Amino acid sequence: MDLESLRNKIPITRNYVYLDNAGAGPLPLPTVESIHSFLDKWSREGEPWENGLRTIMGLKDKVAMLLNTRASGLATIPNATTALNAIIATLVMELHRSKRGDIKVIMDSYGFPTNYYTLLQLKKKGLIGEIVLLKGLHSDEKVAELEEAIDRRTGFVMVDHVSWRTGIAVDLRNVSKIVHDYGAFLVTDAFHSVGSIKVDVSNQGPDFLYFGSYKWLMGPHGAGFLYVSSRVWDYIEPLYLGWLGVKDGVLDRIAGGEELFERELPLWDFEAPLSSNSFEWGTPSFVSFVGLSSSLSFMEKFGWQRIFERITSLARVVREVLGDIALEVRSGEESGIVIARLQDPLTVVARLRKHRKIIVSARPGFLRISPHFYNTEGEVEEASHAIREEVKRPK
Ligand SMILES: Cc1ncc(COP(=O)(O)O)c(C=O)c1O
Repeated sequence: MDLESLRNKIPITRNYVYLDNAGAGPLPLPTVESIHSFLDKWSREGEPWENGLRTIMGLKDKVAMLLNTRASGLATIPNATTALNAIIATLVMELHRSKRGDIKVIMDSYGFPTNYYTLLQLKKKGLIGEIVLLKGLHSDEKVAELEEAIDRRTGFVMVDHVSWRTGIAVDLRNVSKIVHDYGAFLVTDAFHSVGSIKVDVSNQGPDFLYFGSYKWLMGPHGAGFLYVSSRVWDYIEPLYLGWLGVKDGVLDRIAGGEELFERELPLWDFEAPLSSNSFEWGTPSFVSFVGLSSSLSFMEKFGWQRIFERITSLARVVREVLGDIALEVRSGEESGIVIARLQDPLTVVARLRKHRKIIVSARPGFLRISPHFYNTEGEVEEASHAIREEVKRPK
């Protein structure tokens, strides 16, 4: 489908030049309609529970293609933070069970703040030992620092694929090789990469990778995915299990085309599955996944490769116009996030919205401009020039 027809189905494009897709992507009309019809059906005919489960199975196939993996490697998650905590709790428990008492963890400090909270809490409780902070893993020099810091005591390394505060993409393949050489695990937040740049978990090698859907995938809140590499299925068994994911539980029965409740669910003889289903615990927010499924179908109409190319090329236009105020991307791959350093970002954001109908976001000390595939070159140039003018405006 051509760009203009798709833009016609994104209502925000009629009102604003919207360049805060790293904050939240806009919902396309078909997504809103699918959510509405799911709720409408529920209100008139009863809970569409099996419809919801079937939507999730279809969605897993779509997401598996997008990440170059298999659907069995994916579990639904309600948000990135829940996935992170589930992974880390599981890893810490398993590392203790295998008697690696004094666990060292290496973390990229350009990751999202939640990463700090989870790790520092575990350290406070004495469940992990040392935390080593590295500032960005996006260049050869920085990766050399990782090689120096890592050792056999290292339990896992946490790095965001694309940093929310630099917009630079880490070379996951390079990092995962080092991490695996030391028998450690790589845990990756991919909220700013999935849907905006190519992610290929089979080649890039993270052990755990998770993302929500309400940014680059243009989905609603409450729907995301966790990928768990088959390399770790034998080793990793979560602390908690749920009725959806156990062997011969709901998901297995649906996948096998079986009537769900014809037989008792397993009780004393339950087993954890050797798949990411072990992280499927309870009923997901079906309505959110129904919406996400429509958003992905919408984006697929344009084509993922074209989407990735447009995003990086539009971001490049922003960087060129902003010139010296834009954070340079010296090494590391590009993404859809451009950072512009300035003193009073809140005022600039408010003026752009009020006087020019341009939406970008402010963070302490910088503006974040994040174009998506549906933005036009004209919009991006206009907004970038407007930002330059605002920044240079005498105070
Ligand atoms: C990189 C990254 N990770 C995690 C989060 C938090 O996601 P959630 O609140 O959905 O758990 C955000 C939110 O902006 C983010 O940018």
